[in-house]
Amino acid sequence: MTDTTLREMRWWDIEAVLALEYELFPEDAWSPGMFWSELAHARGPAATRRYVVAEADDGRIVGYAGLAAAGGLGDVQTIAAARDRWGTGLGSRLLTDLLQHATAFECEEVLLEVRVDNPRAQKLYERFGFEPIGFRRGYYQPGNVDALVMRLSMHDERGVPRQGTEING
Ligand SMILES: CC(C)(COP(=O)(O)OP(=O)(O)OC[C@H]1O[C@@H](n2cnc3c(N)ncnc32)[C@H](O)[C@@H]1OP(=O)(O)O)[C@@H](O)C(=O)NCCC(=O)NCCS
Repeated sequence: MTDTTLREMRWWDIEAVLALEYELFPEDAWSPGMFWSELAHARGPAATRRYVVAEADDGRIVGYAGLAAAGGLGDVQTIAAARDRWGTGLGSRLLTDLLQHATAFECEEVLLEVRVDNPRAQKLYERFGFEPIGFRRGYYQPGNVDALVMRLSMHDERGVPRQGTEING
């Protein structure tokens, strides 16, 4: 297995990211325009997005993730690892990166939606302290699959800021 580096996603990564997107989210893949639009808000002093890619040392893009932040609220927009990297800790590294940026964006809490039929991703989020807070019925179309909404408070029960790492090892 090659080494993998996390770095900011740039527009020239979109093609490789879309190849993974179509493979991993065949029913509800984002369009190129959605990534272009997100990246337009990811730079400069007024940036409200963090988009990151995982690049193997042979240059292959093997993962990506994105966070939107506004008014103290963060939202995990997307997170994905190439299938041959599942179970290597890459998903955890990507989520750690997003949560560190949520702290930098001064988010009080971070929300996300995850398909109810995606226990692997739910488990990843639970390991970081995300808790289920409700459902959005039929959120994923055209399959009409419900979303589980999960929430992470960026402060622990003593009010101490979280560092964006796993809590249960
Ligand atoms: C969800 C997803 C991002 C998880 O990525 P991942 O790289 O498999 O995540 P991790 O490797 O960090 O964690 C998965 C497992 O590997 C284990 N793991 C973590 N670090 C590890 C390491 N360094 N070495 C080996 N295994 C490790 C974890 O303990 C975890 O095991 P568990 O789930 O049995 O507790 C990935 O499965 C994916 O891209 N799925 C398709 C897209 C998707 O569903 N995205 C979420 C949309 S809401």
